[in-house]
Amino acid sequence: MQAPTREALRARPPLRFRAGRNATKADIFLWELDGVRLVVKDYAPRPRWVRATMGRAMVRREVRAYRLLQDLAGIPRFAGQVDSLAFAVEFVEGRDLSHFRPGEVSVEFFRKLLQLLESVHKAGVAQGDIHHRDVLVGPDDEPFLVDFSTAAFQQGPAGSWRRMIFQAACGSDRRAVLKLKHRHVPHSLTGAEHHELTHPPTWYRLGKRIRSLWRAGRRK
Ligand SMILES: Nc1ncnc2c1ncn2[C@@H]1O[C@H](COP(=O)(O)OP(=O)(O)O)[C@@H](O)[C@H]1O
Ligand SMILES: [Mg+2]
Repeated sequence: MQAPTREALRARPPLRFRAGRNATKADIFLWELDGVRLVVKDYAPRPRWVRATMGRAMVRREVRAYRLLQDLAGIPRFAGQVDSLAFAVEFVEGRDLSHFRPGEVSVEFFRKLLQLLESVHKAGVAQGDIHHRDVLVGPDDEPFLVDFSTAAFQQGPAGSWRRMIFQAACGSDRRAVLKLKHRHVPHSLTGAEHHELTHPPTWYRLGKRIRSLWRAGRRK
């Protein structure tokens, strides 16, 4: 499994899977060669100012996360970087959670998803902004997590602000997954999980405000 080169992408344009949802988002391509299917996330079609700033930074961040998480089932295999603006990962056959109505996904799926999230955090990575489209229901109903463009990493000494940002991002990931669990299989939420959801910590409320400002900025 190897990422295509930029020349190969130009010579045989891949199937556009999903155009960037706004001026700052990457295009998502499906690339198929010799029976191997990859997803290519590419900022090259974005305006120059996006490429030079967040495009490169997001690719660096996401590649770093995928490299750290390569041993985990539930994280697509990393195929390599195309260049500083694009990378490729294994294509996961299946659909994301936005395609499912409440009750259509099993309780077991969410148990495994919470377990996957714990392993991701133990490996020193927080996804940072889990959305229902970032959770894929893969083959055999196994959960997969994608989109590490807003990842935070475990770094810096205990008690440092970097460490606190990482911990806050882990907490926000967990809340996001519990919310998804609540939406899809509400009866399966334990008392402790329900308490967690209804008692957000102060940093979370503050973080939510900061994130909505950041998203509003990206949407412009
Ligand atoms: N490895 C993958 N396999 C299958 N689908 C994927 C994969 N990676 C991403 N996708 C799909 O493409 C969508 C967009 O990718 P994502 O990395 O979340 O980009 P964005 O930054 O635009 O949210 C995801 O919501 C998911 O549905
Ligand atoms: Mg996403």
